[in-house]
Amino acid sequence: MRTQVGIVGAGPAGLLLSHLLHLEGIDSVVLEDRSRAYVESRVRAGVLEQGTVELLTDTGLGDRLHRESLVHRGLELRFDGEGHRIDLSALTGGRTITIYGQQEVVKDLIAARERDGGTVLFEVSDVAVDGLTSDRPTIAYTHDGRAHTLECDVVAGCDGFHGICRAAIPAGERTEYDRTYPFGWLGILARVGPSSDELVYTNHERGFSLLSVRSPEVCRMYLQCAPDEDIGAWSDERIWEELHTRTATRNGGFTLREGPIFEKGVAALRSFVCEPMQYGRLFLAGDAAHIVPATGAKGLNLAVADVRRLAEGLAQLFSGQGSDLLEHYSETCLRRVWRVQHFSWWMTSMLHRFGDDPYQHRLQIAELQYVTSSTAAATTLAENYVGLPL
Ligand code: FAD
Ligand code: DHB
Repeated sequence: MRTQVGIVGAGPAGLLLSHLLHLEGIDSVVLEDRSRAYVESRVRAGVLEQGTVELLTDTGLGDRLHRESLVHRGLELRFDGEGHRIDLSALTGGRTITIYGQQEVVKDLIAARERDGGTVLFEVSDVAVDGLTSDRPTIAYTHDGRAHTLECDVVAGCDGFHGICRAAIPAGERTEYDRTYPFGWLGILARVGPSSDELVYTNHERGFSLLSVRSPEVCRMYLQCAPDEDIGAWSDERIWEELHTRTATRNGGFTLREGPIFEKGVAALRSFVCEPMQYGRLFLAGDAAHIVPATGAKGLNLAVADVRRLAEGLAQLFSGQGSDLLEHYSETCLRRVWRVQHFSWWMTSMLHRFGDDPYQHRLQIAELQYVTSSTAAATTLAENYVGLPL
């Protein structure tokens, strides 16, 4: 089999790239090792930057998104038992964020590829890339019990943090920057309406918590926990008790609504960057190249920013107008990647409990007081949170 762009991974990065290339008249094949049902039900991020929503809308993916999503114009930072609203829209000239589950974006993308006759192969195995420094790289894989080779002009490594593409760049040709955090997030979905109109990020002495939402009937909530927390030790009762404790306000004015929990999981938090994001004819995008801790709600949005750049570069290449966009792909992406790395690290540092260090805690409160009282500081948070221009 032959295609112009061989894409490894059918997460948001790989699927959106395939869709954008289709709109440019460029052929691609997406290879995914999990099943369609699995990738469509994998619960992850929920916050879309305005630029992400605009791109999805402009490329014909906005119908269900606009019908079912929730638009938010602010968020709350809660500390010392008191809430403080950050008016995202007022601070950013009217920009907003949109709440729409990542798996809904993935469903919409798969439906669009299907409708447009795209090739997305699920449940492939033994994926391996070769010939990356030649002008005819290949991807070997097994599908339906048979070995295949896909010949391509370019390979896009959109296979997430644990994929095989990043490791195909020789170790001497890449530098990896890594930071792990001494905590993770326990995340739940519950069948209950939201307790607050906007997201609530809380710094509490027992640890961080976050109240988010998916729809008028479903809430998404997170608790800081150990990175290797045993989810089996968390009964529904224990989760609710901990959420009540961490989100309580001093004046008692806040009531957390409870409902049946139907999904629970633990995710570690990590910061990671691989430089460069390209090698020969291989281009990495999304989590394959970088990871941010979830506190800034940026992982999915950063993946979208990468593939937008990659699609532009590939459109230039295949229309015979040169390759300078592709040559500078990594350099261009990494400017945004490192800005987002800093923002996500900063939000994480400000809001989580780091052991028993009272000095660190006082610094966090000083930072939170500043961010919630200075327009300049609040604007820094707001413009990063809604997404800096591409
Ligand atoms: P992925 O979504 O990881 O997609 C990569 C795809 O490649 C997967 O479908 C995988 O199955 C496939 N793949 C892997 N290896 C191979 C192979 N060898 N061959 C073929 N296919 C392969 N961000 C937030 O902002 N907020 C959150 O709350 C949040 N929660 C998260 C929770 C978890 C558990 C994880 C892992 C991430 C979370 N993120 C969150 C980050 C966000 O979901 C990611 O940044 C986003 O999924 C990146 O998209 P991607 O397409 O680059 O990678
Ligand atoms: C959600 C996830 C995040 O990481 C975040 O910072 C805000 C919201 C969510 O899943 O809704």
